[in-house]
Order: sequence, then C-alpha cells, then structure tokens
Amino acid sequence: MLLKEKIAIVTGIGTGMGKAIALRCAKEGAHVVGAEINEVTGRQTAAEVSAHDRRGLFVKTDMGRVEDINAMVTTAMETFGRIDILVNNAGVTKSLGFFDVTEADWDWIHSVNAKGVFFCMQAVAREMAKRKEGRIINIASIAGKGFRGTSNISYAGSKGAVIAMTRIGAAQLAKHDINVNAICPGATRTDLYTNVMKQLTEREGISEEQAISRLDASIPLKRSNSPDDIANMAVFLASDEARNITGQSFNVDGGLMWD
Ligand SMILES: NC(=O)c1ccc[n+]([C@@H]2O[C@H](COP(=O)([O-])OP(=O)(O)OC[C@H]3O[C@@H](n4cnc5c(N)ncnc54)[C@H](O)[C@@H]3O)[C@@H](O)[C@H]2O)c1
Repeated sequence: MLLKEKIAIVTGIGTGMGKAIALRCAKEGAHVVGAEINEVTGRQTAAEVSAHDRRGLFVKTDMGRVEDINAMVTTAMETFGRIDILVNNAGVTKSLGFFDVTEADWDWIHSVNAKGVFFCMQAVAREMAKRKEGRIINIASIAGKGFRGTSNISYAGSKGAVIAMTRIGAAQLAKHDINVNAICPGATRTDLYTNVMKQLTEREGISEEQAISRLDASIPLKRSNSPDDIANMAVFLASDEARNITGQSFNVDGGLMWD
C-alpha cells in the first residue's frame, strides 16, 4: 500500500477524476475527506471509501467560497488531527467561443478553478507546515499550457493560473517540506467531458461521434484518458516514491502536448 494510514483531502469527489482519486487513495490505505458541492454524489463516494474499510468523510463544500474551504479544513483537522495529502481536483467549465465568454462565466470558472485552488492550498498548508510534511497535488489541464482544443479561453487562463501557483507554491512551501505538483489531464472521459462535447456539437452543428473521433484522432496514442489514468499519477505524486519531485506539472494526455 502506497498511502497506508495517510489522511487525504480530495475536492470534487462526486464524479469523474475526483471519485477515481478518492477510491484509489482508499485502496492504497488512506482515509479520505471529500469536499464536494453535490450532497448526493459526495455522500455516495464517501460511502464507497468507507466500504474499503477506510474512513470516508463527506464535507459539503463550495470550492468557490473561502468560508466553506476553511470550515472543511477545520472539520478535517477536528476529525483526523492532521492532513497529509491534498488533491485540489474540483473544477468547472463549459464550451464557449471567444466572443461568448461573459463576466459571469469568467467569475464562476475562476472562483472554483483558481481562487478555490489557492485558498485550499493555503488553508491546508497552514496545517501541514506545523508538522513540516505534506503533499499537494493540483489538477490543472493541458489547457493551461495553451492546448488549442480547450473548452474556452477563460478556462485555459484559470488552469494556467494553477500551473503558475503550483510552481510558486512549491518554491514558497519547500522550507516546510511540502511538495506541490500539478497534473495536466488531456481529454478524460467524465461528466465534464461529455457536457463540453454536447455543447461543442450544438455550437458547431456536428454530431457527438464526429466531435469525439476528431479529438481521439488528434491524440498520438489514439485514446482519451479514463479517470483512473489520472488517479494513478495522483497516488504516485502523493506517495514516498515522489518525495523529491516538486513544482512540476505532468501531462497525462496520450501525447497531445509536449511541455
Ligand atoms: N475531463 C476532462 O477532459 C478534463 C481535462 C483536463 C482537466 N480537467 C480537470 O479535472 C478536474 C476534474 O474534472 P472532471 O472531468 O472529473 O469533472 P466532473 O464534472 O466529472 O467532476 C467534477 C466534480 O467537482 C464537483 N464540483 C463542481 N463545482 C464544485 C464546487 N464549486 N465545489 C465543490 N465541488 C464542485 C462536481 O460536483 C463534480 O463532482 C477539474 O479540475 C477539470 O477542470 C478535466
């Protein structure tokens, strides 16, 4: 087991990558605090963690609200007494053309994807620093490195912010022995991916099959990710095997982007 008796906070555990990461952490021996806005799916994943004979604690959290984030971290500390791992996974987007992005879209996307990621890192790192130990893994995106097939420009900006904050966080938290890394997924088969594909097909007047095969054809390995492809990387980065890796942003994308 790579994460035996570790305490992990995973955000956005209800579906997709967050769910896969939470369950994989439990399989590797960790107890999981799941911060999720959706009460039904959040409770469901936490129950599945508990079925692995680990503790799964659901805390209803809107990652766009700093108050919620701080309360969630306080609950995690009161319950477990420490936090070893944070996986900042919750994120939102929709398919929008350049001229369609509104201020409300920008605020929604950036409040969860950029503001939420920073304030969650800050609240968790405050606790980790006291013990001089911790692992933070931010789920960014290849959109943050300029992938042209991004869902929209504002999303790409928010993920670029995650990559930059991963580097600066790693530099500023290294003296506390906290490692900060990011994963940049490519196309990954989740609800977010399905919704973006639907919106794209409506906007461009093409079929869903056409949109998916166009995207898959552009991937050198010719396959999109399953959520487990991301969970594998997250567990590795959270484990002792990655103890000397920090400030990096790893693409998991079948070869779509190089840097
Ligand atoms: N799916 C992809 O192709 C893809 C590619 C690159 C990066 N990503 C990133 O991966 C991460 C996970 O995406 P996914 O595809 O699994 O998405 P998803 O939509 O399937 O799951 C996201 C989860 O986060 C929760 N969530 C949404 N807003 C929240 C909020 N304000 N507070 C708390 N929880 C909230 C949702 O309820 C859901 O359970 C995101 O950061 C996303 O930007 C996804």
